Amino acid sequence: MREVELVVYRFDPEHDARPHTESFRVPLVREGMMVLDALIYIKEELDGSFTFRRSCREGVCGSDAVNINGINGLACITPLAGLKEPVRVFPLPGFPVVRDLVVDMRHFFAQYRAVEPWLKNDSPPPERERLQSPEARARLDGLYECILCGCCTASCPSWWWNGDRFLGPAALLAARRWLEDSRDEATGERLDALEDAFRLFRCHEIMNCMDCCPKGLNPTAAIAGIKRMLALRKS
Ligand code: SF4
Ligand code: SF4
Ligand code: FES
Repeated sequence: MREVELVVYRFDPEHDARPHTESFRVPLVREGMMVLDALIYIKEELDGSFTFRRSCREGVCGSDAVNINGINGLACITPLAGLKEPVRVFPLPGFPVVRDLVVDMRHFFAQYRAVEPWLKNDSPPPERERLQSPEARARLDGLYECILCGCCTASCPSWWWNGDRFLGPAALLAARRWLEDSRDEATGERLDALEDAFRLFRCHEIMNCMDCCPKGLNPTAAIAGIKRMLALRKS
């Protein structure tokens, strides 16, 4: 049976002085295997201590974002076939490693919370619901589908270097989603919070983020849209 060689990142802070890689051979037991199937095979059949996150196996939960042959993506929807061997699977770059492929995402989620990703509207609610026109709703397309996997933020050099102050593409995409929402009344306040040399303007439109988004979203364009809104309100 044909086998695929994987080189995976290993680091157990309780036992390892430093990170290292390990090589495993995984048999292609069926057609259409994904990288996640190979990781599960390693854990179940070769080394039970190997650690990674996953949940849905359908590209929906965003928990198995890793770096595969140098590109960030979801292991569960990345086919093994066609990948250059050995397939190198590393944790998301720029995130602290907790163990093996598991990274610490607390700062990433704190940055998401920092853009206050919820509806702000103090007007008395109508009897049934706050309606949107189909056109207003369509303006959210390409902004609301983010699954917070972190692939984009982990591919952004500006975030690697200034992640303590630059919000990064995922949080800024969320910020734009609420700036575009016709029901939201906090546009001015949201823009005030983003008008900052680091939080927003550290994006230099390098575009790594849009190249790797597994949902096909374009954080670069979303960020450019926020910059445009700021410029317009000045003019
Ligand atoms: S476009 Fe902006 S957010 Fe995206 S990778 Fe480049 S600097 Fe980072
Ligand atoms: S924009 Fe795309 S890559 Fe970034 S967190 Fe959302 S789904 Fe993941
Ligand atoms: S396991 Fe949920 S997105 Fe891959």
